Amino acid sequence: MRQAILTTMLGAALFSTCVLSAQAAEIASLRGESSLDAPANAIEKTEQKKVEGGFDRAWDLQPPSIPHDIEKDRITLTENTCMKCHSKDNFEKENAPEIGESHYIARDGSELDKPSSRRHFCSQCHTPQADIAPLVGNSF
Ligand code: HEC
Ligand code: HEC
Repeated sequence: MRQAILTTMLGAALFSTCVLSAQAAEIASLRGESSLDAPANAIEKTEQKKVEGGFDRAWDLQPPSIPHDIEKDRITLTENTCMKCHSKDNFEKENAPEIGESHYIARDGSELDKPSSRRHFCSQCHTPQADIAPLVGNSF
């Protein structure tokens, strides 16, 4: 009996997965048809917008956009090559801006000596920008 229930549950799970992926394949958006379960296309290297002096911010506490190449940078659990230039120890000799003050604040609001682990994955907030025509107009 137990076996039968398990088999039925497995069947139902498989069935819903098939239905979901069939639906995903049919989704068409302004970007054209793309399947929801496929990874997003990376932007073309030539399309990345690089701005001398950095991008203007839309509001004070906006994470600034990245104005340079990050192709060779790696952010993993044990490594973060962004900090070769942006850390407290290296920013001066690399002539780069130091990571923001907010990066030294812990979850409970206390100040830290080292950057907070909440800020380890830089690209969670900082992104490069592509020089492409917007799909939808925006006056923000
Ligand atoms: C080889 C050194 C170097 C590395 C590695 C590097 N950066 Fe930078 N970064 C710079 C320099 C120099 C600037 C200033 C560029 C400018 O203003 O023209 C900058 C600017 C920035 C800015 C804009 C700051 C602002 O106030 O506008 C951000 C955000 C940034 N980098 C994030 C990153 C992230 C995230 C990584 C890793 C994926 C990274 N950087 C890796 C040197 C580096
Ligand atoms: C959770 C979001 C978040 C993460 C993760 C994050 N940042 Fe930021 N970053 C911000 C915000 C918000 C600001 C603007 C406020 C500030 O300056 O603290 C900022 C500012 C900066 C600046 C500009 C500082 C200045 O004074 O002009 C640099 C450079 C920077 N971040 C680099 C990095 C790097 C390198 C990492 C990864 C080690 C990183 N950030 C991770 C949100 C983030």
